[in-house]
Amino acid sequence: MVYESKHPLVKHKLTLLRDVATEPKKFRELVRELAILLCYEATADLGLSEMMVETPMGTAAGAHLTEKIGLIPILRAGLGMVEGIWEMMPGAEVWHIGLYRDERTLKPVSYYNKLPTSPTVQVCLVLDPMLATGGSAVATVGILKNWGAERIKFVGILAAPEGVRALQAAHPDVPIHVAQIDSHLNNIGYIVPGLGDAGDRQFGTG
Ligand code: PRP
Ligand code: URA
Repeated sequence: MVYESKHPLVKHKLTLLRDVATEPKKFRELVRELAILLCYEATADLGLSEMMVETPMGTAAGAHLTEKIGLIPILRAGLGMVEGIWEMMPGAEVWHIGLYRDERTLKPVSYYNKLPTSPTVQVCLVLDPMLATGGSAVATVGILKNWGAERIKFVGILAAPEGVRALQAAHPDVPIHVAQIDSHLNNIGYIVPGLGDAGDRQFGTG
């Protein structure tokens, strides 16, 4: 399943994020805020256990999250999506996956993975603002499945139709949550109209 956000706040913030005049500080702020909003939508089906809670006025029926959540940012650009989501779910574990796209082949090259031998979380949220060819997301989900992860969701900001198709074809069980699906990829694998290079724009390296 692919979920494209319909939320007005997401549309508003995405427009600011795309703007070529948005400086890295503001860009990082927007990535953080969009990540929180998109994660809110992506986690609507998390499991709950009922519990009672004592209030100053009596006893109330409540609930607590039952599943251990893993946040899996794809380096570098996924890093900017971690902090805001983590504030909402402070009990989450964060496992970094380092991949970069080879500029010539557009294939992902793996450079960092410190996952322990068996899975420590029940739900994995893969975080990467950009789903372009889909190579990085497909590889990351593959790594998580080899680890033994059973429930995986992809949370991104912008996607190209090509990336959505690739991720769905390779991992049809992984729901995709994004702010928007754009028109197409250009001849160097960039999303059009997109927002440029999400890593460079966050880290001021463009
Ligand atoms: C960008 C982006 C994704 C990837 C998407 O990272 O953050 O990880 O490209 O492209 P794909 O869907 O075609 O794989 P990049 O490789 O530029 O690395 P960086 O985040 O370190 O800049
Ligand atoms: N990575 C980016 O940062 N931007 C794109 O448009 C495609 C891949």
